[in-house]
Amino acid sequence: MKEDGIKRIKSGIPGLDEMIEGGFPLPSFVMAAGEPGTGKTTFAVQSLFHGAKNGERGVYITALSEPAWVVQKFLGHFTFYDNKLIETKKIVFLDIGDTIKKQPSYILNVLEKEIEKYSPKRIVIDPLTVMRVAMQDDRSYRDFLHDFMLFTKGFDCLTIVTGEVQYSHIANNMSAYMVDGVIILSYAEEENIRRKYLEVLKMRGTRHLTGRHSLDISKNGVTVQPGLR
Ligand SMILES: Nc1ncnc2c1ncn2[C@@H]1O[C@H](COP(=O)(O)OP(=O)(O)O)[C@@H](O)[C@H]1O
Ligand SMILES: [Mg+2]
Repeated sequence: MKEDGIKRIKSGIPGLDEMIEGGFPLPSFVMAAGEPGTGKTTFAVQSLFHGAKNGERGVYITALSEPAWVVQKFLGHFTFYDNKLIETKKIVFLDIGDTIKKQPSYILNVLEKEIEKYSPKRIVIDPLTVMRVAMQDDRSYRDFLHDFMLFTKGFDCLTIVTGEVQYSHIANNMSAYMVDGVIILSYAEEENIRRKYLEVLKMRGTRHLTGRHSLDISKNGVTVQPGLR
């Protein structure tokens, strides 16, 4: 704990922690938002593996759009991926696609039950956007998100949710208002090269760097180069 009294947890993303006073506040609920292919899944899962290597349990929750095994197959190419951490249940992959499809009103119950079962230090929901589709209206979704955030706070953990959101829509996205932190992943076409970027839009309790910073994805996962724009 630092002198400001805020406990922090390392993101597991090289370059990011120095942009946010050493890590995410604990507990906190952070959204990684961006268009498809910007690196949201890689970002979130890399953080889970970083924690699991240090003994912290992680839970990865996915839904309809990408079954857990598809995600695992894609992630197997990264050097941070370690199957042993999955075999030993340090990282648990949960697919709640069936609940979302058949009993959307039970989503919160199912999530709470699973999280109670594992008491994780890091939770990922990828993508959260699917929950909005499952809920009937904005009101139900807002209630769901509010209740779920409150629930996870009780575990003193880091929750990372991903949002498939168009760049221009992120700032006025409802969930972006509600969560503790928003990280935008983006790309831009420059000189015929697609560059990727990371921007910390907000992070409660944290003096963070602003603006877009260069983001690199390689077989080692996601790296940020603070200062490189
Ligand atoms: N080994 C790699 N080297 C470089 N880039 C990679 C590698 N593996 C994946 N990527 C990049 O990561 C992107 C997919 O990231 P992903 O985390 O699935 O994004 P999202 O979840 O936002 O859709 C791909 O579009 C690709 O550009
Ligand atoms: Mg993804």
